[in-house]
Amino acid sequence: MNPKNSFRVIVVFASFVSALAATCPVNAPRNVVTFSTATNESTGTAYFMNDGVHGNYIFAADIGTDAKLILRKGYFTGGFGAHGIHEGPDPFFSQGSIHVNEDKRILMIPNAGSNSLTTFRINPTDPSDLKMIGNPVPSGGEYPVSITMNKAGDMACALNGGRINGVSCFKLDLEKGLVPLPGMTRYLNINQTTPPVGPEGSAGQVEFSEDEKYLLVIVKGSTPSSAYVAVWDVYPDGSFSPTFRTISGGFLPWSITNIPGRNAFISADGLVGYDIYDLELLESDPGARATEYVIPKQIAICWSAYSRSTDNYYLAEFGTSSLIEIHVDENLKGSTVANHTANANDGSAELAITSVGGKDYAYNIAPNPTAINVFSLDGPGRATLIQTLYAGAQIRAAGIEMSPDYIAGMAVYRKRQ
Ligand SMILES: *[C@@H]1O[C@H](CO)[C@@H](O)[C@H](O)[C@H]1NC(C)=O
Ligand SMILES: *[C@@H]1O[C@H](CO)[C@@H](O)[C@H](O)[C@H]1NC(C)=O
Ligand SMILES: *[C@@H]1O[C@H](CO)[C@@H](O)[C@H](O)[C@H]1NC(C)=O
Repeated sequence: MNPKNSFRVIVVFASFVSALAATCPVNAPRNVVTFSTATNESTGTAYFMNDGVHGNYIFAADIGTDAKLILRKGYFTGGFGAHGIHEGPDPFFSQGSIHVNEDKRILMIPNAGSNSLTTFRINPTDPSDLKMIGNPVPSGGEYPVSITMNKAGDMACALNGGRINGVSCFKLDLEKGLVPLPGMTRYLNINQTTPPVGPEGSAGQVEFSEDEKYLLVIVKGSTPSSAYVAVWDVYPDGSFSPTFRTISGGFLPWSITNIPGRNAFISADGLVGYDIYDLELLESDPGARATEYVIPKQIAICWSAYSRSTDNYYLAEFGTSSLIEIHVDENLKGSTVANHTANANDGSAELAITSVGGKDYAYNIAPNPTAINVFSLDGPGRATLIQTLYAGAQIRAAGIEMSPDYIAGMAVYRKRQ
């Protein structure tokens, strides 16, 4: 993601495209790679991926009782990664490329270069221990980048962002993995390629609305003010409306983070700061737009997450390597609370927030050093960087590719006490 490209002509380098096309496995990927032995002290696991073009891997790092990470394992997904057509970190222009369902103890990951989805079973006593369920299944389109699940945990929906783009939904079978649901593919018909050109005009994230009455996909603008959220109605029998409605607004909305208890969400906006979409307006005011909030001095805010313990939102600001903390009040009005910086030049990409010992912590990808920054969320307005895990160095030392431009995803599983 190069913010300088925003709304300017993007030059597509022919050599870059052919380099992508020429990627085939050199060394057969190993199914499991072990970085360290288990301790019985872990409280959960943080997961991220290499989007590897020679083998897509999901990595698992134990979360200790002190909330710090220890890299444990890497698992080949059976698929391959791919990078969108743009220079620099953030291969997918997206959020939600790893989905964890803690109740079903399931992890799902798209393989962007293979148009497939892989499902793993999580061992609840050692959540860094994953077992693939079945084989990767076709994603129902091209260049899958984001996946989510309903609250019941029986239906998963994947977002394809390439030439054939839209959502495809699956039934979760705990023995077989994801099973396609007939008639549950809906196309966005964005004018895109595989891999997609971005970030302008690329698909962002798929998510259910808080009340699960809607299935949502956020789409970045290709010209100023052409961004929108696509909204399909979810009927009581679980099927979707044939076509989608939209709420326009924002410029480069990247993410969907639901606002608890409200039929609304916040989206990190790579051009301005963030946008708040109020889904109630779909019924009451069909012409309504999202509200755009400008964060001065931001360079590229692309990811978002919510903390229950601080009741605030954290936006990953790539350009100044920081987490921007936002509060949203009862009138859905946003305000900036604080700016928490990581190490200079780390970059800041996808993040996930979980609780350890009653306090929330943010696990945030730092693409430039292929690391993970762990922030302790000490209270509203207060956060402390407590660890930088230089995972990439360990992964490369094990002979597996891991580069700043490809590191992606972030999801967490918390052990039941
Ligand atoms: C953790 O493992 C150590 C060594 O195997 C053992 O002595 C200890 O009792 C274990 N602790 C718990 C809480 O299971
Ligand atoms: C799709 O995008 C390409 C490349 O930008 C452009 O040449 C073409 O005209 C577009 N097609 C439509 C139908 O907008
Ligand atoms: C966050 O704080 C850092 C350090 O003071 C500063 O360099 C950066 O510009 C700030 N970012 C934003 C978006 O205000």
